[in-house]
Amino acid sequence: MNRSKIAGIGYYVPERVVTNNDLIKVMDTTDEWIQERTGIRERRYGKKHEETTTTMAAAASRIACERAGIQPEEIDFIVFATLSPDYYFPGCGVLLQRELGITKQEVGAVDIRNQCSGFVYALSIADQFIKTGMYKNVLVVGSEMHSMGLDFSTRGRNVTVIFGDGAGAVILQPSEDANRGILTTKLHSNGTYAEKLSFINPGAHGGYHKKHMEEEVDFGYPPPDTYGEIFITPKMIADGNYYPIMEGQFVFKMAVHKFPEVIHEALQEQGLQASDIDMLIPHQANLRISQFVQKTLRLRDDQVWNNIQKYGNTTAASVPIALCEAWEAGKVKDGDLVCLAAFGSGFTWASALIRW
Ligand code: UT7
Repeated sequence: MNRSKIAGIGYYVPERVVTNNDLIKVMDTTDEWIQERTGIRERRYGKKHEETTTTMAAAASRIACERAGIQPEEIDFIVFATLSPDYYFPGCGVLLQRELGITKQEVGAVDIRNQCSGFVYALSIADQFIKTGMYKNVLVVGSEMHSMGLDFSTRGRNVTVIFGDGAGAVILQPSEDANRGILTTKLHSNGTYAEKLSFINPGAHGGYHKKHMEEEVDFGYPPPDTYGEIFITPKMIADGNYYPIMEGQFVFKMAVHKFPEVIHEALQEQGLQASDIDMLIPHQANLRISQFVQKTLRLRDDQVWNNIQKYGNTTAASVPIALCEAWEAGKVKDGDLVCLAAFGSGFTWASALIRW
Protein backbone atom coordinates (compact mmCIF):
# COMPACT_ATOMS: atom_id res chain seq x y z
CA MET A 1 0.00 0.00 0.00
CA ASN A 2 1.16 3.53 -0.75
CA ARG A 3 1.38 6.08 1.99
CA SER A 4 -0.07 9.50 1.14
CA LYS A 5 1.67 12.81 1.66
CA ILE A 6 0.53 16.40 1.53
CA ALA A 7 2.43 17.58 -1.55
CA GLY A 8 1.02 21.11 -1.59
CA ILE A 9 -1.08 23.26 0.68
CA GLY A 10 -2.79 26.64 0.37
CA TYR A 11 -5.38 28.81 2.04
CA TYR A 12 -7.49 31.82 1.25
CA VAL A 13 -9.31 34.22 3.53
CA PRO A 14 -11.37 37.17 2.29
CA GLU A 15 -9.90 40.65 2.66
CA ARG A 16 -12.73 42.10 4.73
CA VAL A 17 -11.92 42.06 8.44
CA VAL A 18 -14.90 42.20 10.81
CA THR A 19 -13.94 43.01 14.38
CA ASN A 20 -15.93 42.28 17.53
CA ASN A 21 -16.67 45.99 17.73
CA ASP A 22 -18.23 45.84 14.26
CA LEU A 23 -20.67 43.20 15.54
CA ILE A 24 -21.65 45.38 18.49
CA LYS A 25 -23.30 47.72 15.98
CA VAL A 26 -25.87 45.05 15.01
CA MET A 27 -26.39 42.91 18.13
CA ASP A 28 -26.19 43.04 21.89
CA THR A 29 -22.68 41.75 22.55
CA THR A 30 -19.32 43.05 23.71
CA ASP A 31 -15.71 42.68 22.67
CA GLU A 32 -14.93 41.52 26.23
CA TRP A 33 -17.55 38.75 26.14
CA ILE A 34 -16.40 37.42 22.78
CA GLN A 35 -12.69 37.52 23.62
CA GLU A 36 -13.12 36.08 27.09
CA ARG A 37 -15.44 33.21 26.04
CA THR A 38 -13.92 32.36 22.65
CA GLY A 39 -10.58 34.11 22.16
CA ILE A 40 -11.85 35.65 18.92
CA ARG A 41 -10.84 39.25 18.11
CA GLU A 42 -11.90 39.37 14.47
CA ARG A 43 -13.00 37.24 11.54
CA ARG A 44 -13.19 37.58 7.75
CA TYR A 45 -16.35 37.92 5.66
CA GLY A 46 -16.43 37.25 1.93
CA LYS A 47 -17.50 39.85 -0.61
CA LYS A 48 -21.17 39.34 -1.38
CA HIS A 49 -22.02 38.80 -5.06
CA GLU A 50 -18.35 38.06 -5.77
CA GLU A 51 -16.99 35.46 -3.39
CA THR A 52 -18.56 32.12 -2.55
CA THR A 53 -17.53 28.92 -0.82
CA THR A 54 -16.45 27.62 -4.23
CA THR A 55 -14.47 30.66 -5.38
CA MET A 56 -12.58 30.77 -2.08
CA ALA A 57 -11.88 27.04 -2.42
CA ALA A 58 -10.57 27.63 -5.92
CA ALA A 59 -8.18 30.32 -4.68
CA ALA A 60 -6.81 27.99 -2.00
CA SER A 61 -6.65 25.06 -4.45
CA ARG A 62 -4.61 27.00 -7.01
CA ILE A 63 -1.99 27.73 -4.35
CA ALA A 64 -1.97 24.08 -3.25
CA CYS A 65 -1.54 22.92 -6.87
CA GLU A 66 1.30 25.35 -7.47
CA ARG A 67 3.12 24.23 -4.32
CA ALA A 68 2.61 20.58 -5.31
CA GLY A 69 4.10 21.40 -8.72
CA ILE A 70 1.02 20.28 -10.64
CA GLN A 71 -1.50 21.93 -12.92
CA PRO A 72 -5.19 21.74 -11.89
CA GLU A 73 -5.67 19.55 -15.01
CA GLU A 74 -3.61 16.84 -13.29
CA ILE A 75 -6.06 16.47 -10.39
CA ASP A 76 -7.59 12.96 -10.42
CA PHE A 77 -10.32 13.46 -7.83
CA ILE A 78 -11.88 16.21 -5.69
CA VAL A 79 -13.07 15.83 -2.10
CA PHE A 80 -14.85 18.96 -0.88
CA ALA A 81 -15.87 19.50 2.75
CA THR A 82 -18.33 22.28 3.58
CA LEU A 83 -21.49 23.01 5.54
CA SER A 84 -22.14 26.23 3.64
CA PRO A 85 -22.38 25.13 0.01
CA ASP A 86 -23.17 27.58 -2.79
CA TYR A 87 -26.24 25.53 -3.72
CA TYR A 88 -28.37 23.03 -1.82
CA PHE A 89 -27.41 20.81 -4.76
CA PRO A 90 -25.30 20.15 -6.76
CA GLY A 91 -22.43 20.17 -4.30
CA CYS A 92 -19.37 22.40 -4.34
CA GLY A 93 -17.10 19.62 -5.68
CA VAL A 94 -18.39 19.97 -9.22
CA LEU A 95 -18.55 23.77 -8.96
CA LEU A 96 -14.90 23.77 -7.93
CA GLN A 97 -14.04 21.56 -10.88
CA ARG A 98 -15.65 24.13 -13.16
CA GLU A 99 -14.04 27.05 -11.32
CA LEU A 100 -10.60 25.47 -11.79
CA GLY A 101 -11.33 25.02 -15.51
CA ILE A 102 -10.92 21.25 -15.45
CA THR A 103 -14.31 20.00 -16.61
CA LYS A 104 -12.75 18.41 -19.72
CA GLN A 105 -11.09 15.77 -17.53
CA GLU A 106 -14.46 14.74 -16.05
CA VAL A 107 -12.77 13.47 -12.89
CA GLY A 108 -14.91 12.45 -9.91
CA ALA A 109 -15.93 14.92 -7.22
CA VAL A 110 -17.56 14.27 -3.88
CA ASP A 111 -18.90 16.54 -1.14
CA ILE A 112 -18.42 15.79 2.55
CA ARG A 113 -21.04 17.08 4.97
CA ASN A 114 -19.31 16.61 8.27
CA GLN A 115 -19.14 20.18 9.46
CA CYS A 116 -16.17 20.92 11.77
CA SER A 117 -14.54 17.53 11.26
CA GLY A 118 -15.23 17.69 7.51
CA PHE A 119 -11.66 18.33 6.42
CA VAL A 120 -10.16 15.51 8.51
CA TYR A 121 -12.84 13.14 7.18
CA ALA A 122 -12.14 14.37 3.64
CA LEU A 123 -8.41 13.83 4.11
CA SER A 124 -9.03 10.31 5.38
CA ILE A 125 -11.22 9.50 2.37
CA ALA A 126 -8.61 10.86 -0.03
CA ASP A 127 -5.95 8.89 1.83
CA GLN A 128 -7.77 5.63 1.07
CA PHE A 129 -7.79 6.41 -2.68
CA ILE A 130 -4.05 7.12 -2.66
CA LYS A 131 -3.22 4.08 -0.51
CA THR A 132 -4.95 1.71 -2.89
CA GLY A 133 -3.22 3.29 -5.88
CA MET A 134 -6.47 4.44 -7.47
CA TYR A 135 -5.44 8.10 -7.73
CA LYS A 136 -2.19 10.09 -7.82
CA ASN A 137 -3.34 13.67 -7.17
CA VAL A 138 -6.37 14.17 -4.94
CA LEU A 139 -7.52 17.70 -4.16
CA VAL A 140 -8.92 17.92 -0.63
CA VAL A 141 -10.68 21.15 0.31
CA GLY A 142 -12.45 22.68 3.29
CA SER A 143 -14.25 25.94 2.59
CA GLU A 144 -16.97 27.96 4.30
CA MET A 145 -18.94 31.10 3.62
CA HIS A 146 -20.70 31.39 6.97
CA SER A 147 -21.41 35.10 6.73
CA MET A 148 -24.20 34.45 4.20
CA GLY A 149 -26.27 32.38 6.63
CA LEU A 150 -26.00 33.75 10.15
CA ASP A 151 -28.55 35.44 12.39
CA PHE A 152 -27.19 38.93 12.93
CA SER A 153 -29.84 39.78 15.51
CA THR A 154 -29.20 39.41 19.24
CA ARG A 155 -31.08 36.09 19.15
CA GLY A 156 -28.27 34.50 17.15
CA ARG A 157 -25.36 36.06 19.01
CA ASN A 158 -24.06 32.87 20.67
CA VAL A 159 -23.48 31.36 17.20
CA THR A 160 -22.89 34.34 14.95
CA VAL A 161 -19.96 35.90 16.81
CA ILE A 162 -17.99 32.66 16.47
CA PHE A 163 -18.02 32.01 12.74
CA GLY A 164 -15.92 33.36 9.89
CA ASP A 165 -15.27 32.69 6.20
CA GLY A 166 -12.26 31.08 4.55
CA ALA A 167 -10.86 28.09 2.67
CA GLY A 168 -7.93 25.68 2.83
CA ALA A 169 -6.80 23.03 0.36
CA VAL A 170 -4.20 20.29 0.00
CA ILE A 171 -2.99 18.06 -2.80
CA LEU A 172 -2.53 14.51 -1.61
CA GLN A 173 -0.07 12.32 -3.50
CA PRO A 174 1.65 8.96 -2.96
CA SER A 175 4.73 9.40 -0.79
CA GLU A 176 8.05 8.16 -2.15
CA ASP A 177 9.29 7.69 1.42
CA ALA A 178 7.41 4.86 3.18
CA ASN A 179 8.02 6.47 6.58
CA ARG A 180 6.58 9.86 5.64
CA GLY A 181 3.01 10.95 5.10
CA ILE A 182 -0.32 10.16 6.72
CA LEU A 183 0.30 7.54 9.40
CA THR A 184 -3.30 7.07 10.41
CA THR A 185 -6.72 8.69 10.60
CA LYS A 186 -9.45 8.03 13.15
CA LEU A 187 -13.08 8.87 12.43
CA HIS A 188 -16.03 8.83 14.83
CA SER A 189 -19.60 9.99 15.11
CA ASN A 190 -22.58 9.84 17.45
CA GLY A 191 -25.91 11.03 16.08
CA THR A 192 -27.61 11.01 19.47
CA TYR A 193 -27.06 14.74 19.80
CA ALA A 194 -27.54 15.72 16.15
CA GLU A 195 -29.78 18.69 16.94
CA LYS A 196 -27.52 20.21 19.63
CA LEU A 197 -25.56 21.97 16.89
CA SER A 198 -27.62 22.05 13.75
CA PHE A 199 -29.11 23.94 10.85
CA ILE A 200 -32.59 22.42 10.62
CA ASN A 201 -34.32 24.55 7.99
CA PRO A 202 -34.44 24.37 5.07
CA GLY A 203 -34.74 20.60 5.11
CA ALA A 204 -36.99 17.63 4.45
CA HIS A 205 -37.32 16.69 8.12
CA GLY A 206 -41.11 16.87 8.27
CA GLY A 207 -41.00 17.78 11.93
CA TYR A 208 -38.75 14.78 12.70
CA HIS A 209 -36.50 16.94 14.88
CA LYS A 210 -39.28 17.37 17.47
CA LYS A 211 -38.74 13.82 18.75
CA HIS A 212 -35.12 14.63 19.44
CA MET A 213 -35.23 18.05 21.01
CA GLU A 214 -35.91 18.61 24.69
CA GLU A 215 -37.39 22.02 24.09
CA GLU A 216 -40.55 22.31 22.02
CA VAL A 217 -39.36 24.44 19.11
CA ASP A 218 -41.78 25.33 16.34
CA PHE A 219 -39.73 25.37 13.19
CA GLY A 220 -42.72 26.36 11.11
CA TYR A 221 -43.15 23.02 9.37
CA PRO A 222 -46.51 22.73 7.60
CA PRO A 223 -49.14 20.13 8.58
CA PRO A 224 -48.72 16.57 7.18
CA ASP A 225 -51.32 16.96 4.41
CA THR A 226 -49.52 19.93 2.88
CA TYR A 227 -47.58 19.52 -0.36
CA GLY A 228 -44.91 21.84 -1.68
CA GLU A 229 -43.27 24.66 0.26
CA ILE A 230 -41.84 22.07 2.60
CA PHE A 231 -38.14 22.91 2.65
CA ILE A 232 -38.72 26.55 3.41
CA THR A 233 -42.11 27.94 4.37
CA PRO A 234 -43.33 31.53 4.77
CA LYS A 235 -43.64 30.83 8.52
CA MET A 236 -40.02 29.73 8.77
CA ILE A 237 -39.02 32.97 7.09
CA ALA A 238 -41.38 35.11 9.20
CA ASP A 239 -40.04 33.53 12.41
CA GLY A 240 -36.42 33.65 11.26
CA ASN A 241 -36.06 29.88 11.64
CA TYR A 242 -33.43 29.30 9.03
CA TYR A 243 -30.23 29.78 11.00
CA PRO A 244 -27.77 27.51 12.78
CA ILE A 245 -28.54 26.75 16.44
CA MET A 246 -26.22 25.52 19.18
CA GLU A 247 -26.40 24.49 22.81
CA GLY A 248 -22.98 25.92 23.43
CA GLN A 249 -22.15 24.51 26.84
CA PHE A 250 -23.25 21.00 25.90
CA VAL A 251 -21.11 21.07 22.74
CA PHE A 252 -18.19 22.51 24.69
CA LYS A 253 -18.24 19.68 27.26
CA MET A 254 -18.34 17.01 24.56
CA ALA A 255 -15.56 18.71 22.61
CA VAL A 256 -13.07 18.86 25.49
CA HIS A 257 -13.69 15.17 26.13
CA LYS A 258 -13.57 13.90 22.54
CA PHE A 259 -10.56 15.90 21.26
CA PRO A 260 -8.03 14.23 23.61
CA GLU A 261 -9.71 10.84 23.23
CA VAL A 262 -9.41 10.72 19.44
CA ILE A 263 -5.84 12.09 19.54
CA HIS A 264 -4.79 9.43 22.05
CA GLU A 265 -6.45 6.75 19.95
CA ALA A 266 -4.31 7.65 16.93
CA LEU A 267 -1.12 8.01 18.98
CA GLN A 268 -1.66 4.70 20.75
CA GLU A 269 -2.15 2.84 17.48
CA GLN A 270 1.16 4.21 16.21
CA GLY A 271 3.05 3.51 19.44
CA LEU A 272 3.48 7.24 20.02
CA GLN A 273 2.84 9.61 22.91
CA ALA A 274 1.42 13.12 23.12
CA SER A 275 4.93 14.42 23.87
CA ASP A 276 6.02 13.16 20.41
CA ILE A 277 3.70 15.65 18.69
CA ASP A 278 5.65 18.50 17.12
CA MET A 279 2.56 20.41 16.04
CA LEU A 280 -1.07 19.93 17.02
CA ILE A 281 -3.55 21.60 14.68
CA PRO A 282 -6.87 21.58 16.50
CA HIS A 283 -10.06 22.62 14.75
CA GLN A 284 -10.49 26.25 15.78
CA ALA A 285 -13.80 25.99 17.66
CA ASN A 286 -12.98 28.05 20.71
CA LEU A 287 -9.60 29.09 22.10
CA ARG A 288 -10.66 27.78 25.50
CA ILE A 289 -11.26 24.32 23.98
CA SER A 290 -7.81 24.32 22.35
CA GLN A 291 -6.20 25.42 25.62
CA PHE A 292 -8.01 22.70 27.51
CA VAL A 293 -6.82 20.07 25.01
CA GLN A 294 -3.27 21.44 25.20
CA LYS A 295 -3.33 21.18 28.98
CA THR A 296 -4.78 17.66 28.93
CA LEU A 297 -2.06 16.50 26.53
CA ARG A 298 0.60 18.47 28.44
CA LEU A 299 1.79 20.27 25.31
CA ARG A 300 3.84 23.46 25.24
CA ASP A 301 2.54 26.59 23.52
CA ASP A 302 4.89 26.01 20.59
CA GLN A 303 3.33 22.57 19.99
CA VAL A 304 -0.17 23.92 19.27
CA TRP A 305 -1.29 26.25 16.48
CA ASN A 306 -4.14 28.64 17.20
CA ASN A 307 -5.43 31.30 14.85
CA ILE A 308 -9.07 31.57 15.94
CA GLN A 309 -8.20 35.05 17.25
CA LYS A 310 -7.92 36.28 13.62
CA TYR A 311 -10.39 34.13 11.71
CA GLY A 312 -13.00 32.84 14.17
CA ASN A 313 -14.32 29.35 13.57
CA THR A 314 -14.21 28.54 9.86
CA THR A 315 -15.58 25.00 10.38
CA ALA A 316 -14.31 22.67 7.62
CA ALA A 317 -11.72 25.26 6.58
CA SER A 318 -10.18 25.80 9.99
CA VAL A 319 -7.81 22.81 10.06
CA PRO A 320 -6.28 23.33 6.57
CA ILE A 321 -6.00 27.11 7.12
CA ALA A 322 -4.21 26.59 10.45
CA LEU A 323 -2.01 23.83 9.03
CA CYS A 324 -1.04 26.02 6.08
CA GLU A 325 -0.27 29.00 8.32
CA ALA A 326 1.87 26.85 10.61
CA TRP A 327 3.72 25.43 7.62
CA GLU A 328 4.25 28.89 6.08
CA ALA A 329 5.61 30.11 9.43
CA GLY A 330 8.22 27.31 9.33
CA LYS A 331 6.63 25.57 12.33
CA VAL A 332 5.91 22.38 10.39
CA LYS A 333 9.14 20.92 9.05
CA ASP A 334 10.21 17.73 7.28
CA GLY A 335 10.08 14.81 9.68
CA ASP A 336 7.80 16.54 12.19
CA LEU A 337 4.89 14.66 13.71
CA VAL A 338 1.75 16.68 12.96
CA CYS A 339 -1.57 15.90 14.55
CA LEU A 340 -4.87 17.20 13.15
CA ALA A 341 -7.98 16.92 15.30
CA ALA A 342 -11.55 18.13 15.04
CA PHE A 343 -14.91 17.88 16.75
CA GLY A 344 -18.26 19.32 15.80
CA SER A 345 -21.86 19.01 14.72
CA GLY A 346 -23.21 15.51 14.26
CA PHE A 347 -21.52 14.93 16.59
CA THR A 348 -18.57 13.89 14.44
CA TRP A 349 -14.93 13.95 15.45
CA ALA A 350 -11.67 12.81 13.92
CA SER A 351 -7.89 12.90 14.07
CA ALA A 352 -5.00 12.39 11.67
CA LEU A 353 -1.32 11.79 12.36
CA ILE A 354 1.11 12.90 9.68
CA ARG A 355 4.88 12.41 9.53
CA TRP A 356 5.66 15.53 7.48
O1 UT7 B 1 -16.99 24.20 15.98
C1 UT7 B 1 -18.01 23.29 16.31
C2 UT7 B 1 -18.05 22.99 17.72
N1 UT7 B 1 -18.44 24.17 18.44
C3 UT7 B 1 -17.98 24.34 19.65
O2 UT7 B 1 -17.19 23.56 20.10
C4 UT7 B 1 -18.50 25.50 20.44
C5 UT7 B 1 -18.64 25.08 21.88
N2 UT7 B 1 -19.26 26.09 22.71
C6 UT7 B 1 -18.70 27.28 22.98
O3 UT7 B 1 -17.65 27.59 22.47
C7 UT7 B 1 -19.36 28.17 24.00
O4 UT7 B 1 -20.40 27.45 24.63
C8 UT7 B 1 -19.92 29.49 23.42
C9 UT7 B 1 -18.78 30.39 23.03
C10 UT7 B 1 -20.78 29.21 22.21
C11 UT7 B 1 -20.78 30.20 24.43
O5 UT7 B 1 -20.03 30.46 25.59
P1 UT7 B 1 -20.58 30.04 27.03
O6 UT7 B 1 -19.57 30.50 27.98
O7 UT7 B 1 -20.90 28.58 27.00
O8 UT7 B 1 -21.89 30.92 27.15
P2 UT7 B 1 -23.40 30.46 27.31
O9 UT7 B 1 -23.95 29.96 26.01
O10 UT7 B 1 -23.55 29.58 28.50
O11 UT7 B 1 -24.10 31.83 27.64
C12 UT7 B 1 -23.77 32.56 28.83
C13 UT7 B 1 -24.45 33.90 28.79
C14 UT7 B 1 -25.93 33.82 28.48
O12 UT7 B 1 -26.59 34.82 29.19
P3 UT7 B 1 -27.34 34.50 30.57
O13 UT7 B 1 -28.38 33.48 30.22
O14 UT7 B 1 -26.29 33.95 31.47
O15 UT7 B 1 -27.87 35.82 30.97
C15 UT7 B 1 -26.00 34.14 27.00
O16 UT7 B 1 -27.23 34.70 26.62
O17 UT7 B 1 -23.87 34.69 27.74
C16 UT7 B 1 -24.91 35.16 26.88
N3 UT7 B 1 -24.36 35.27 25.52
C17 UT7 B 1 -23.75 36.38 25.08
N4 UT7 B 1 -23.51 37.56 25.66
C18 UT7 B 1 -22.86 38.48 24.92
C19 UT7 B 1 -24.34 34.33 24.55
N5 UT7 B 1 -23.72 34.82 23.46
C20 UT7 B 1 -23.36 36.09 23.77
C21 UT7 B 1 -22.69 37.09 23.05
N6 UT7 B 1 -22.46 38.27 23.67
N7 UT7 B 1 -22.25 36.91 21.79
